[in-house]
Amino acid sequence: MAENIYPISEQMMSRADKEALLCQRGVMVWFTGLSGSGKSTIAMGVERELHKRGILCRILDGDNIRAGINSNLGFSSEDRMENIRRIAEIGKLFVQTGVVTLACFVSPTNDVRRLARDIIGEKDFKEVYVSTPLEECERRDVKGLYARARKGEVKNFTGISAPFETPENPTLEIDTSCLSLEESVRRVVDMVVSCSEWK
Ligand code: ADX
Repeated sequence: MAENIYPISEQMMSRADKEALLCQRGVMVWFTGLSGSGKSTIAMGVERELHKRGILCRILDGDNIRAGINSNLGFSSEDRMENIRRIAEIGKLFVQTGVVTLACFVSPTNDVRRLARDIIGEKDFKEVYVSTPLEECERRDVKGLYARARKGEVKNFTGISAPFETPENPTLEIDTSCLSLEESVRRVVDMVVSCSEWK
């Protein structure tokens, strides 16, 4: 942090005020998994279902964030760390506004996921590991990136030429090669409803 910075907070309306207004609790649902594993597809289904139930959500997604605020970042491990740091800081603002925040990022290492958890805070952080195997993600290859990575045209591609470390203790694990989209969405919705409930 630069010198001579004095963050204010006391005069602002509190998180509790905002959560009371929305009648819900803010929470971060952090989806981690390989590209093409189904993170964003599940998150969109969850958002739609929660919206129907009157729960306000916000999706933060890798490709969208990287087209905007993080457009100056690539896929080196330093850039991935900075990508996740900024996203976690942005996500924290949403969570503290009472919003159910669905973050969909490859977030491939224990270090980057720990950084996100530390910034957001243990109590508000729920990790969903979308564990769809590499072979299935590569078979789907929705964006054609696996084929290009195999030819060496995309450097540092997670799962091919850059590592993905298995999450150590996720709140939920979902393998979309075994579970339908409907069932995957239902499991996440059940988890979110129990922790965003306003009592
Ligand atoms: S992260 O590793 O920093 O968390 P993030 O989720 O923001 O990644 O972005 C991943 C998305 O960027 C992928 O879904 C894919 O579409 C695209 N992408 C482009 N190059 C790469 C790469 N080298 N590794 C992984 N994803 C990449």
